[in-house]
Amino acid sequence: MNHSNPPSPKRFASAGPLTGQIAVPGDKSISHRSLMLGALAVGETRVTGLLEGEDVLATAAAMRAMGATIARENDGTWSIHGVGVGSLLQPNQALAMGNSGTSTRLLMGLVASHPISAMFTGDASLSGRPMGRVITPLSEMGASFEASQGGTLPLMLRGISPAVPITYRLPVASAQVKSAVLLAGLNTAGISTVIEPVPTRDHSERMLRGFGAKLEVGEEKGANGLERVIRIHGEADLQPQTITVPGDPSSAAFFTVAALLVPGSDLIIQNVGLNPTRAALFDVLRDMGGSIEELDRREVGGEPVADLRVQHSALTGIEVDPAVVPAMVDEFPILFVAASLAQGTTVTRGLEELRVKESDRLAAMASALILAGAKVEEYGDGLVIQGTGGDPLPGTADGTAIATHLDHRIAMSMAVAGLASENGVKIDDTAPIATSFPTFEALLDSASAQ
Ligand code: S3P
Repeated sequence: MNHSNPPSPKRFASAGPLTGQIAVPGDKSISHRSLMLGALAVGETRVTGLLEGEDVLATAAAMRAMGATIARENDGTWSIHGVGVGSLLQPNQALAMGNSGTSTRLLMGLVASHPISAMFTGDASLSGRPMGRVITPLSEMGASFEASQGGTLPLMLRGISPAVPITYRLPVASAQVKSAVLLAGLNTAGISTVIEPVPTRDHSERMLRGFGAKLEVGEEKGANGLERVIRIHGEADLQPQTITVPGDPSSAAFFTVAALLVPGSDLIIQNVGLNPTRAALFDVLRDMGGSIEELDRREVGGEPVADLRVQHSALTGIEVDPAVVPAMVDEFPILFVAASLAQGTTVTRGLEELRVKESDRLAAMASALILAGAKVEEYGDGLVIQGTGGDPLPGTADGTAIATHLDHRIAMSMAVAGLASENGVKIDDTAPIATSFPTFEALLDSASAQ
């Protein structure tokens, strides 16, 4: 979690087709939530397939600091003994969130409706990200905050119990903000309501129900069409669960695009979560001409899952419908790489939120791809990319390294660009990859070697 070590630069270059079978690690969003809800259920929750990346380990450490007992068993199962809703303990040191916006914003929701206070700290990337979006609703519920200038970390949160139930309409399409309010609502008497003008990932809703919380999801007519309305009944009593975490579609995305771009590839990616609020990248890539076949569609841990067979394909540029943005918000960096090798132009819009992720992903990807030889124009809310028509990108010149800005998805996207380049692409630091996908490089080696 501490990236103060010297950076580890690396050049990623073509190493032949990606073939055989790989399994990507567990879903990051579901892993965070299983630790948080397990820590609030009295009794033992058992989790298999948990993502053991730095972001999720930051959540585990925070839940331990607030009273839960969390242990990894030798077979990789995680055992969580929770404290009960309303019984989180006062942490006796700052909660170190590392690079993880999800840990920070969701835990702020949990702390807000408990009679405890917590200091939240993060790395340089996280300390620049906006927290006002959760401070606003949680203040309405009664919590108080001392944030750094601009509403950022380090931040002191004083929770309150009883908190006040609110009705909150999300001003940005953000599952993190939605989840912060729902989690605060767990320990708030009465009904807390979140209105979502645009649907975002629904893992919190699914898992809260799975743990026995009373939660209603409906659709109501709003000013601009149908809106999702989510109501949680507070002072919930959560029951411990046995959870299997499906593979992360956001991690599978890098291997999907790599196999589409590298000639001769024919790769099976096992156990990929395909929750419709997450899976839009695969549809967009199919619309571009990508061969992505779903095998053995099934349900794992209440989520749709399939194995994906991906074969090298000629891609064509498209205009991406801004309506799908929330369902692939983390996948635009790797889509930009695919677009750089497609035939024709790809247009993306409605991506303002990408500017406040682990880095400004529009600026970071535009300059990274240009350095690697792609044709990219940057606009306020998206990129327009002129593809090579299947030819490899030139790659980065000797002595030039792509700046990854402490952003795992920039690092992995540009690693994939390196596989589809003539001279390879050098990135300035591979360390951020461990926040979400610690086995990325090993899996890349194994898929290329088969
Ligand atoms: C996440 C929600 C998304 C996403 C992040 C994980 C979650 O953030 O980018 O990687 O687990 O709720 P926003 O809600 O800010 O869009």
